Amino acid sequence: MTFRTHYCGSIDKKNIGQEVAIAGWIHRRRDHGGVIFFDIRDETGLVQVVYNPDNKDSFSLAETCRSEFVLLSMGTVQERPEGTINPDLLSGEIEINASGLTILNNSLALPFQLDEYTSVGEETRLKYRFLDLRRDAMQAKLRLRAKVSHSLRNFLNDENFLEIETPLLTKATPEGARDYLVPSRTYPGSFFALPQSPQLFKQTLMASGFEKYYQFARCFRDEDLRADRQPEFTQIDLESAFVEANDIIELVTRMISKTFKETMNVDLGEFPHLTYAEAIEKYGTDKPDLRNPLEFIEVKDLFIDSDFKVFSEPANSDESRIAALRVPKGESLSRKQIDDYTDFVGTFGAKGLAYIRVEDPSKGKEGLQSPIIKFIDENIINQILITLEAKKGDIIFFGAGKRKVVNDSLSALRDLVAKDLDLLVSEWAPCWVVDFPMFEIASSGQITPLHHPFTAPRCSIEELKDNPLLALTDAYDVVLNGTELGGGSVRIHDHEMQSEVLKILDIDHEEAQEKFGFLTSALQHGCPPHAGLAIGFDRMIMLMTKSDSIRDVIAFPKTQSASCLMTDAPGAASFEQLNELNLKVQDLNKET
Ligand code: AMO
Ligand code: AMP
Repeated sequence: MTFRTHYCGSIDKKNIGQEVAIAGWIHRRRDHGGVIFFDIRDETGLVQVVYNPDNKDSFSLAETCRSEFVLLSMGTVQERPEGTINPDLLSGEIEINASGLTILNNSLALPFQLDEYTSVGEETRLKYRFLDLRRDAMQAKLRLRAKVSHSLRNFLNDENFLEIETPLLTKATPEGARDYLVPSRTYPGSFFALPQSPQLFKQTLMASGFEKYYQFARCFRDEDLRADRQPEFTQIDLESAFVEANDIIELVTRMISKTFKETMNVDLGEFPHLTYAEAIEKYGTDKPDLRNPLEFIEVKDLFIDSDFKVFSEPANSDESRIAALRVPKGESLSRKQIDDYTDFVGTFGAKGLAYIRVEDPSKGKEGLQSPIIKFIDENIINQILITLEAKKGDIIFFGAGKRKVVNDSLSALRDLVAKDLDLLVSEWAPCWVVDFPMFEIASSGQITPLHHPFTAPRCSIEELKDNPLLALTDAYDVVLNGTELGGGSVRIHDHEMQSEVLKILDIDHEEAQEKFGFLTSALQHGCPPHAGLAIGFDRMIMLMTKSDSIRDVIAFPKTQSASCLMTDAPGAASFEQLNELNLKVQDLNKET
């Protein structure tokens, strides 16, 4: 059977008078005084079909049809009567005067209307994902995803990158999250880990003589999920031999720019470079949203001799900072909003939120309104006004205390205030953050890599040994609108340096051999210098489609608690399966 002669979205005035056959779903059904109207929907759009009672058989069949029945409709294209033209539809000037109808399948009543989805909870949308995906908005997102993937592949192929797949059943990858484990039947008691990234394999490929590799790689991370994280996600993963950091940065800048231009006609413009230290100093975060013009100014030095303890204590501590955030138009913020901001920064551990309203800076202290100025010397106040170039109508917020608390709280406040006061100056703001330190001290007190242990420190082995926390790397993150889109680095290709880094991380030789002996062996057998990066593909599409959640750009995503409401995964395994795998499940209801 030939299902269709035309797609719904392709029929317009040029087809008037033609006999057509279309196939699709009943998007909307209306009964108008004995005449039945269907809006039929297929992949390409909608078209209106009219069933008249003159055509008895088709009409009585049409009467039995409900929303989302799947039909084959035949008829003649005609001009719509005056006054019934729909300018919002591509096919809005015509309709099909039906002469035949075949019902290809029917549908139960829907759990939600496809055009009134906003009132539907996400749980229902995820449970009936096949219906949710029929909606225009979801179709558009997945179509863009495919288009972007096509554009990126073309780019990388044109640059002579080779697409190579790496295993999913593998060993743990040290990217910092928990692994998903898969029990082995043939090696009872042993487990595969699903890869957190292809990091180890792509470096091994460099040692194998493939100089430009890429992959749309599935990655698995069992970590706390947020709006921009999924347990199973896709990276555009790439690696290249005989290159430096700037080669990768230049390539990826061109790749992202070209894809935005090609798929959305967006010009991203320049990608400014910031060092990690600059980013933290100015924005309190290594993923600053540069659409937002607000910047922190460090005012610690002004308070060293102040009597105001809230500020003088951090001013005299190496672990602390005092950052000021001058907000133009801030005078419009109400007392209630400022109280809410104070509560907000409190959730990041800030003990308060000092502020100064600048009513008239020419009057010095008299022209200001603030709960803290009574504690602060007039000349310090004047210096603050000069340093910050304070202007009438500004409000200045202050964060004082431990660096991490000030950075986390004030950077979140910077985003929130810009949103509330509509301060963003552009639609898109990409940037590169470079010169990351090799290590940091985690909240557990342990020394950990900022990226991963395969990132090359810029210093000598001796310097690294003496002062690991001072070591910088050629690691780079690409950030778009305050979201980390991707990251990478120049890698260690020298076995001695790799051993030293692992030693500093307290990973002993045996553990390293067990976990990634193949890579350390590859490094000892003529591995070229190499560098690479991975972009979070889902995040990229999330930004491009301005979606609030990463789930909206993945066909079948998992919930915040890492389950799939449509398939009900994860599920129990049968006794036989467990037996075969030599596994026993603990009875969680039993006291241990
Ligand atoms: P990284 O761990 O920074 O680097 O990951 C690279 C990018 O992948 C995306 N991403 C995620 N997206 C959705 N859900 C998640 N749970 C998730 N986790 C990460 C982010 C991130 O920027 N092997 C290195 C890359 C390299 O060094 O080449 C790596 O995986 O957008
Ligand atoms: P307090 O002495 O705690 O009453 O604080 C005096 C003022 O300083 C109040 O406006 C507080 O909101 C503010 N404040 C207190 N602690 C901090 C801090 N760590 N950073 C910024 N402002 C603070």
